[in-house]
Amino acid sequence: MTAAYPTGTFPATFIGGAAGLWRIDRSTAIAGGEPLPRAERLEVREGIAPTSGGVWRLAGVAGHTRYVGRAEKTALDAASPPLGRPEATMAALIPIRKSPAWWAMPQDERRAIFEARSHHIADSMKFLPRIARRLYHARDLGQPFDFLTWFEFAPEHAGAFDELVAMLRAREEWTYVERELDIRLTR
Ligand code: HEM
Repeated sequence: MTAAYPTGTFPATFIGGAAGLWRIDRSTAIAGGEPLPRAERLEVREGIAPTSGGVWRLAGVAGHTRYVGRAEKTALDAASPPLGRPEATMAALIPIRKSPAWWAMPQDERRAIFEARSHHIADSMKFLPRIARRLYHARDLGQPFDFLTWFEFAPEHAGAFDELVAMLRAREEWTYVERELDIRLTR
């Protein structure tokens, strides 16, 4: 049976191996264990691919937002650039898993940590439109990570991207991150 995904959802499989548009420049384990096995290139394939081929595979589905309010959505929609800009020749794939304590909380408590106390949206928005992004959910697919976060930017904004990542990692939200990888790419 072929799954049918509704409009506005983007299922994808990230395949580390010998093929693909993106060259893997470095792959680091930030928290919670080992990096993925070494691979030369990354292919981002549309759809949830069968579990064959490549050295490693991670799948997720990008879709509707969970935490964003109306004013935030309006501001994000206005400032967010598309993926695939010709000048955005650098990318980062940052897979993240949060702890059981995070997932035991109801939505309002998670939102309070995510935004009221960590200012994830308000402070990250300042980096738009330099960074293009897409958030894939993977937890409900039984994947090893809860989220696959994907970012694209021009080389001149690589420093700003590092600043953004360091800012988020220092916030309360990140005390709930139990596994995190950081894979940097160029094309
Ligand atoms: C480029 C600037 C960024 C903006 C504007 C941004 C914005 C957002 C927004 C609006 C959400 C909420 C989506 C929802 O409502 O479901 C979100 C979630 C998330 N972002 Fe970011 N973000 C940025 C950068 C980053 C970076 C650099 C990372 C990783 C280092 C990251 C990791 C995440 C994760 C893991 C979630 C899911 C949180 C959860 O559902 O528990 N974001 N981001």
